[in-house]
Amino acid sequence: MTLLEIKNLTITFKTSNDSLIAVDNVSFHVDKGETVGIVGETGSGKTITSLSIMRLLPSNAKVSGEIFFNGKDLLKISEKEMDEIRGKKISMIFQEPMTAFDPLYTIGDQFSEVLFKHENVSKLEAKKRSIEMLKLVGIPEPEKRFYQYPHEYSGGMIQRAMIALALLTNPELVIADEPTTGLDVTIQMQVLNLIKRIQRSSNLSMIFITHDLGVISKMANRIIVLYLGKIFEVGSVKDVIFSSVHPYTKGLIASVPTLKTSKSQKLYSIPGNVPSLKEIKSGCRFYSRCPVRMDICKDNDPKLFEYTPGHFVSCWAVDPNRNLVNTYE
Ligand SMILES: Nc1ncnc2c1ncn2[C@@H]1O[C@H](COP(=O)(O)OP(=O)(O)OP(=O)(O)O)[C@@H](O)[C@H]1O
Ligand SMILES: [Mg+2]
Repeated sequence: MTLLEIKNLTITFKTSNDSLIAVDNVSFHVDKGETVGIVGETGSGKTITSLSIMRLLPSNAKVSGEIFFNGKDLLKISEKEMDEIRGKKISMIFQEPMTAFDPLYTIGDQFSEVLFKHENVSKLEAKKRSIEMLKLVGIPEPEKRFYQYPHEYSGGMIQRAMIALALLTNPELVIADEPTTGLDVTIQMQVLNLIKRIQRSSNLSMIFITHDLGVISKMANRIIVLYLGKIFEVGSVKDVIFSSVHPYTKGLIASVPTLKTSKSQKLYSIPGNVPSLKEIKSGCRFYSRCPVRMDICKDNDPKLFEYTPGHFVSCWAVDPNRNLVNTYE
């Protein structure tokens, strides 16, 4: 069953003398209990896509398209109605925990505040629920931690607290935007395992955003590869990671070190840098860096098509009748 359905989402930013299309005609869905991963280099539009779902984009952003949540278009409902959904039915785990917490209030106060806002609970009940949630995410001595301020938590602990806060109201959809970037590897693994365990046990729907292909292949059921605001490839982990067809996805995968890579072996890196939105003209956005570009790609933007059932790709070089030669092996 579909929980979230995004149709033709386009996000345009107005700057002093320009208008930039940062997300271009993006469509995807998230089923109940499913984790959809969004992967892409910096600037691909991962964060603004999530902020558009929460209706938290800055005022210079113009959004068009449809964002259906439980059949209701979030872009059409009133701010009051959205305020009831935001933080209650849809919540977000941010990369930077300090953006989620106010340094001036205790963790307990901030947890309780969320419960007071969305549910009719007593002070005692709010405290009980908050402590239970802190405990669930593995925070030791939650009764004591309830009364502490954010700065009294370590990096790994505050990340756990943010996950607890995002789950406090039993949301239907959680958007995790690079939730473990900046944590050291051991803590990162613990936090990822925790998110996965909770997601499974409560059948949560999730959008999991990262630029780390290794992480996404462990967390997601399906993966969306985004590049400069365009979807390049969508499919199951098997499709996108192990049978990828888009030259960009292949390049991303070839640039991930594996245990098998010997020290002397050079890692592949996609040539050039991600161009800025201002530099984009007509044609495929990957044209300037693509190792298999053809004449048609220069002026014609490829469309997403179903390559095999459930596996979509937008690339002129990947034609059902003319498979792309694997250039990275
Ligand atoms: N307020 C704004 N005004 C103008 N452009 C913006 C604004 N916010 C974001 N953008 C542009 O939108 C594009 C997408 O940004 P976004 O933050 O979604 O990227 P991202 O994929 O999350 O990158 P990262 O991996 O670095 O987090 C970028 O080119 C960015 O410069
Ligand atoms: Mg981001």
